[in-house]
Amino acid sequence: MVIRREDYRPPAWLVPEVRLDFDLDAAATRVRARLSVTRNGADGEPLRLDGAGQVPLSVTVDGVAIDDWRLEGEQLVVPLAGAAHVVETEVEIAPDHNTQLMGLYASGGILCTQCEAEGFRRITYFPDRPDVLSRYTVRMTADAARYPVLLANGDPGATGTLDDGRPGIRHWAEWHDPFPKPSYLFALVAGDLAVNRGSFTTRSGRAVELGIWVREADLARTDHALDALKTSMAWDERVYGREYDLDVFNIVAVDDFNFGAMENKGLNIFNSRYILADPDTATDYDYDGIAAVVAHEYFHNWSGNRITCRDWFQLSLKEGFTVYRDQGFSADQGSAAVKRIEDVRTLRAAQFPEDAGPLAHPVRPDAYQEISNFYTATIYNKGAELIRMMATMLGPVAFRAGTDLYFDRFDGTAATCEDFVACLEEASGVDLTQFRRWYGQAGTPRVSASLSHGAGGGRATLRLAQRVPATPGQPDKQPMVLPLRLRLFGAETGRPLTDEQLVLLDQPAATIVFEAVTERPVLSINRGFSAPVIVESDRSAADLAFLSAHDDDPFARYEAMQQLMLDTLVAGAIEGSADYDAVIDAVANTLDDPDLDAAFVAEAVMLPSEAFVGDQLAVVDPDAIFRAREALRGDLARRLEARWRLAYDRAPAVPYVYSPDQKGRRRLRNVALGYLAASGAGDAAALAFAQFGAADNMTDRQAALTTLVNGDAPERDVALAAFHDRYAGNGLVLDKWFQAQALSARDDTTDRVAALATHPAFTLANPNRARSLIGAFGANQRAFHRADGAGYRFLADQLIALDRLNPQTAAKLLPPLGRWRRFDAGRAALMRAELARIVAVPGLSRDLFEQASKSLE
Ligand code: PHE
Ligand code: ZN
Repeated sequence: MVIRREDYRPPAWLVPEVRLDFDLDAAATRVRARLSVTRNGADGEPLRLDGAGQVPLSVTVDGVAIDDWRLEGEQLVVPLAGAAHVVETEVEIAPDHNTQLMGLYASGGILCTQCEAEGFRRITYFPDRPDVLSRYTVRMTADAARYPVLLANGDPGATGTLDDGRPGIRHWAEWHDPFPKPSYLFALVAGDLAVNRGSFTTRSGRAVELGIWVREADLARTDHALDALKTSMAWDERVYGREYDLDVFNIVAVDDFNFGAMENKGLNIFNSRYILADPDTATDYDYDGIAAVVAHEYFHNWSGNRITCRDWFQLSLKEGFTVYRDQGFSADQGSAAVKRIEDVRTLRAAQFPEDAGPLAHPVRPDAYQEISNFYTATIYNKGAELIRMMATMLGPVAFRAGTDLYFDRFDGTAATCEDFVACLEEASGVDLTQFRRWYGQAGTPRVSASLSHGAGGGRATLRLAQRVPATPGQPDKQPMVLPLRLRLFGAETGRPLTDEQLVLLDQPAATIVFEAVTERPVLSINRGFSAPVIVESDRSAADLAFLSAHDDDPFARYEAMQQLMLDTLVAGAIEGSADYDAVIDAVANTLDDPDLDAAFVAEAVMLPSEAFVGDQLAVVDPDAIFRAREALRGDLARRLEARWRLAYDRAPAVPYVYSPDQKGRRRLRNVALGYLAASGAGDAAALAFAQFGAADNMTDRQAALTTLVNGDAPERDVALAAFHDRYAGNGLVLDKWFQAQALSARDDTTDRVAALATHPAFTLANPNRARSLIGAFGANQRAFHRADGAGYRFLADQLIALDRLNPQTAAKLLPPLGRWRRFDAGRAALMRAELARIVAVPGLSRDLFEQASKSLE
């Protein structure tokens, strides 16, 4: 069934108050729900309550049991005569059989919930849609030994113990959330949990008690998350004027979780990988990710909870904006330039391919079959780019005025993307009429840029043109508004020839004339990646090398280097060889530049991924790309070997400190280690192995392991075994062990990954584990695309098995198989055959069916 945006209708009934009573038990939990409902639509409309997987044990209206209710599909339909009633239902659910991890489920002995997007209906009957906002009172009763801690949304209320004649001691706790909220923000947790407590006083003086709840054994790894939470709370006050609004803020970490984390009101529930960190088990990258996700979920309290989405087509209203907010937060904690580089890399790795493939959809989609499939890089990351473009066009002061207006006007309501844009427009006076096309048109725009300079004439002419490619269901596109920051530099002097200007390209083509340009100009365009587009320019290798050394915008400098590398790799992949000199000189210059910080250098000297090179080719040839990249890497490694050694020897401080400076140094050192290994230097494996053994932190240990895993030195197996044994029992760390092997560049990776799928520590039941092996494997261009189709078959087998347990996670891992159009006829046929095999599986989930069938079209 297809749900369409144009079919949106306001709810026929509202539910201002809910009382939920849980008798918790892993095998059989009783849920009694008391809904105060009020009519919001036409007389005669019955009350329709969503359900999934359960049946009503009883239904009463205004205290009287009724029997004229009926089930339509999984909806419970209750005929109601008046305008306000109290409807009570009772159901029984089985958390320990819930392998989908939606609704109420068990994770390692903890009972927890996940309701976004449509999980609440798996707990009780309810109008499970985001525009029905209710005040919740929750009572939980449970075995006091097994579940000593009982948490829910809002503020804690009464507690007590109970002697009801059942074995063991049972206790209960009540929670009340004063803020009306949609059902997808409901949460409860019951378990044997320890807490890391903190406090935060808001700027108007509210004392908030903070708690990070984990298993006792994990308590020592929660300080970083707690710090990040406090920093986020202060940041949102300072940057957006947003203050926290309850007396408590709790976070619970669980090991089994479909996504990163969930912003339930006052009770965030996290995938433990985004909470737990200490130097021995978490990398710098993990520390960054924890801070970013803690901030993201916290920021949702305003952009998501206080103001929610009217319907799921508006998902980017909360997600795009909140990603933009967490990106700003992370940029403020360290190097903003490096953060921007990382965010653009993520966009290009995850969103550009989505926008260019069968699953392309607008930031505000028009239709879906399964909403879980729309928690995508387009909604999140491209959505954030849309906010960023508007912020660029408005400038910081007007943008802040716009967000203030939005928070003020829509507080306590379920809003739309249009509401947000209209607030920015009203507060700034900037006309965003044409900009709105970004919400409706899918596909990554392409901008061609060509700069000419009349000999001696002093006039430079920049010709710009845009083209938005066709995407599924959208053959013809209108021109978009593309905010392009640009600047000209003099090729001889290296000095800027113009100020930076912001060009709004809103026509199919435009010409910009620069007068009095006294020397040959070089174009720096889309600085800071001001628009999420693909720029096609005719800049020479020399000009790109020049920009990589002289541009004053750090992102543009990085970008020039990437483009230079990309052009070289594309030439290498197509022609079998290429001229590496320009890249080698540019990398040498970057390594030698004393003014650059290590983190930036590390980013700049890394080659674009194989996948990104493939995105530039008409037909992707994974083997040719791999060869071209290895050849350039090898040459870079050998010809600059002395510099890599120098970079490697600039060892960061011991003991480990997580700070922007130390992080950058570790990063550069580990990039240097990778190059030393690629140089074929006889001592490279020994260096890596020594680092592996001596490291006092996971960043260095993992980097050394990865280097060894990509090669075939005898140290490889020794390190793998040592790593495995050292971290046996720690799933989060074993994920790194699986992932390193799944991403390995070795020829035998496909077979090894198939063997690892039967390793005792591997299980499809845990989403992190599935992603670390199956997800990583799907991203390994050469291994996954092995010409005999073994990679495709393996992925399809795994997805079919995973779909029976956890459809959401299975569907998330499908996209690599859908990229068949980009490959040669042989691979395309093999990929299609696997998609067809998946689609034909009887009883396939709606999640996997939607993704696989769309991918076949
Ligand atoms: N809303 C969550 C976030 O982005 C993501 C999420 C979606 C988590 C669906 C679980 C289920 O913060
Ligand atoms: Zn979010």
